[in-house]
Amino acid sequence: MAERLDANARDAVLRAMGIEQWHVRETHAAAAEPMVGSDESPTVVKTEAVVKLDDTSNRPTAEIDWETLRHNVKRCTQCRLHETRTQSVFGVGDDSARVMVVGEAPGAEEDRTGEPFVGRAGHMLDSMLKAIGIDRPSVFIANVIKCRPPQNRDPRADEVAACAGYLEAQVVHVKPNVILAVGRVAAQHLLGSTETLGRLRAQRDLSAFGVPVLVTYHPAYLLRTPVQKARAWEDLKRLRSLIEAGQ
Ligand code: URA
Repeated sequence: MAERLDANARDAVLRAMGIEQWHVRETHAAAAEPMVGSDESPTVVKTEAVVKLDDTSNRPTAEIDWETLRHNVKRCTQCRLHETRTQSVFGVGDDSARVMVVGEAPGAEEDRTGEPFVGRAGHMLDSMLKAIGIDRPSVFIANVIKCRPPQNRDPRADEVAACAGYLEAQVVHVKPNVILAVGRVAAQHLLGSTETLGRLRAQRDLSAFGVPVLVTYHPAYLLRTPVQKARAWEDLKRLRSLIEAGQ
C-alpha cells in the first residue's frame, strides 16, 4: 500500500502540499484549530439500533453486514439532516484498509457526489496521504456525520449522536491498524474528549474502539492556515512510522 517515495517524488508531493522544504520550519506556537467545527463539544452518545448491536455491550457486533450498513446510511432519517441532504455520504475506499481517515462531515461537493473529501479539502487530504506514499484508494475515508449540515454549519450534538453508531460500525468492520482523525470534531468525537485539537495532537497512545488514533489538522484548516502544514507534516511522518512499525 504505502511504497517508500524516492526523494524527488517526495519533494514534488511536499511542494503540492505547499511544503517547500524537507526540514520542519519553525512556526508560531500551534494554536488550537479554531475554524473547523464549533466550540460546542459533541457528546458521545450511542445511536439507536440502526446497526446490529451486541445485546450486552450495546456496541456494534463484529459481524456487521457492510451492505446492510451502507443501505442503512443511505436511507437514514435519524436526524433532521436527511431533510436537507442530496444524499448521505457513507465513506469510500478499502473496507479492510490498514489506515482509516475520519473527517467531520460532508460539504457541498461531497453532498453532490456522495463521496467524502472530494472538494478542495479532499485534494489536500490526497496530497497529505501521498506525501507519505499512501494512495487514496488504499485507505478507508469516512466522516463522523454522514449528511451535510446546511451551509456547512458545525454538526450539532444530536446529529453526532445519531450518526455515532455508523462510524463505530465502520471502524469495527474495517479493523484498521490506525485511525487518522483530521480536525477537532473527528478527534473529539473519536476520543470522547473536549480538549483542543492542539492538545489532542500532542498526545500519544490515543485510541478509539481499541484502534490507535493519531490526530492532525483538518485539510480545510491547512488550506486556510498554511503555516501549520509543517506541523501536519510531523503528524504524517508519525503516521508513516506507525504503519512501518506494523501498527
Ligand atoms: N470535510 C470533511 O470533514 N469531510 C468531507 O468529506 C469533506 C470536507
